[in-house]
Amino acid sequence: MSDELGSTWKAVDSMAEDWLGLGDDVLAEVTARCASAGLPAIAVSPCQGRFLQQMARIGGAKRILEIGTLGGYSTIWLARALPPNGKLITMEIDPHHARVARDNLAMAKVHHLVEVREGPALKTLAALEQERADPFDFVFIDADKPNNPRYFEWALRLARPGATVVVDNVVREGAVLDASGTDESTEGARGVLRLMGRSPGIEATVLQTVGSKGYDGFAIAVVGAN
Ligand code: SAH
Ligand code: DHB
Ligand code: MG
Repeated sequence: MSDELGSTWKAVDSMAEDWLGLGDDVLAEVTARCASAGLPAIAVSPCQGRFLQQMARIGGAKRILEIGTLGGYSTIWLARALPPNGKLITMEIDPHHARVARDNLAMAKVHHLVEVREGPALKTLAALEQERADPFDFVFIDADKPNNPRYFEWALRLARPGATVVVDNVVREGAVLDASGTDESTEGARGVLRLMGRSPGIEATVLQTVGSKGYDGFAIAVVGAN
């Protein structure tokens, strides 16, 4: 990416945020609190947050599962897609992140819709299955990238037929093309795309994105009936 192109992507995101009213005072305060609590600035962008919210809303999602909470920024966008009796379960390994997220969710007045489950997601996902949780309509996978294939397998076990599964960061400035096997996160992105391609009944796409977070992309899969 040339620097000039990168600054254009950022400028267009800024313009879109401004003209479309993306990200209100609450979300701005959430971002500020995440920064002052020392969390890395890796949340989805405002345009991406609205995109996730819209996908969940278009699909009529009542139950949402998120893997990778950070400070709850994407969580808030997704929770805002829910009806009043909806539910979002979000999973986070880092107790400090989880604490910041709970405060942010309360500030955004979506805490009654959201449960933050602390611990390594592979464990909390297994626990969720043990509980015989109702199936999810929408799953957002955005945690440790090497586990993406495992998380996608769990999403398929926990989602209803017709559900949408979105995986963040599958392009990584084109690093996804690197077949050398040297980077575990890249392997996670390649692995989950391969898995989507060979899973029966899954219709998936990759949507490459540019913007304030640079060049990356989402994998978006719709779960079939089988
Ligand atoms: N979805 C968030 C960003 C998530 S960043 C947003 O867009 O606002 C990734 C998060 O996944 C980090 O908070 C990290 O602590 C968490 N994480 C990393 N490994 C994990 C694991 N094994 N289980 C659960 N969460 C994990
Ligand atoms: C990183 C993680 C993310 O989920 C993201 O969207 C961007 C960057 C990271 O770990 O660097
Ligand atoms: Mg991400």
